[in-house]
Amino acid sequence: MKRRNLLMAATALSLGMGSMVAAELPPLEQKERYRVGFAQMESNNPWRIAETKSFMDTAESCNWDLIATDAAGSAAKQVADVDSMIAQGIDILFLPPREEKPLIPAVKKAKAAGIPTFLVDRSVDPAAAQPGTDFVAFLGSDFIDQGRRVAEWTIENFEGEKGIIVQLEGTTGSSPANDRKSGFDDAIAADPRFEIVASQTGDFARDLGRQVMETLLQAHPEVNIVYAHNDEMAIGAIQALELAGRKPGEDVLVVSIDGTRDALQAIIDGKMGVTVESSPFFGPLACEVMNRYAAGEEIEHWVQVQDRIFTQDNAADHIDEAY
Ligand code: AHR
Repeated sequence: MKRRNLLMAATALSLGMGSMVAAELPPLEQKERYRVGFAQMESNNPWRIAETKSFMDTAESCNWDLIATDAAGSAAKQVADVDSMIAQGIDILFLPPREEKPLIPAVKKAKAAGIPTFLVDRSVDPAAAQPGTDFVAFLGSDFIDQGRRVAEWTIENFEGEKGIIVQLEGTTGSSPANDRKSGFDDAIAADPRFEIVASQTGDFARDLGRQVMETLLQAHPEVNIVYAHNDEMAIGAIQALELAGRKPGEDVLVVSIDGTRDALQAIIDGKMGVTVESSPFFGPLACEVMNRYAAGEEIEHWVQVQDRIFTQDNAADHIDEAY
């Protein structure tokens, strides 16, 4: 289906903007090669490294001249990286916004410069910028559903009488941290056996996850479930538990999200119960969606990625394809 010229007017009206009509999204010309911007937020964990590699591996087959940057964990640098890409004349931008709010000016600036933008893996505050209006689409997982699935697995598989939960949250203000928390919290609240006694950020990082777990263990020695918003923090928590003489997998159930090699190994070793997949391999999907957009197709506002679940039943079957 061709993009409809009236889409922006309809969006403006549905947002209650009266007669104000938002400018149409920038089109993408069909051509031999594209100058593509990929503004990565940080490279401090295997997930981020795998995502950047997926874009780099896709560059040749998709005829991209790829400009990839690394904001080293700073939203301000990520905004500056997008600015620099705009100045370098990119045709299209793929952006994983580190946090929901600070990247909104970058998204709007790219649109004003005539550059179609696709958000990948993380999104921005929907009250401030929308797909179909400010950017073309969001490519990624359902983070609320990931949190919900971890909670449901925990409810089904926890064998104790009372589940005392510590939650290690991802980067404050990021869409996966917000959504994985709300998905888990809502679902676990349905079973009165469970109580979340602490919920604190570990910034999606292994080291910080370990440090936060060490502190929380002192405040809550009775903890018997750790829910980490990603595998890196789960592995950090396992290290902290073992250092404190606890036995992850025996006296503490550790549950998480991503599907990294270390997490699958921890499941095989019996130290972790489950990880719900969140795939970092966005390069091929970005290529496919870009070509559809250049051909004038209307792109769905959310190109949703389907996630598997890894447990003792299948971790060994998938560890060779993990990162
Ligand atoms: O945005 C996805 C999350 O970001 C992944 O779960 C995490 O590992 C990464 O840093």
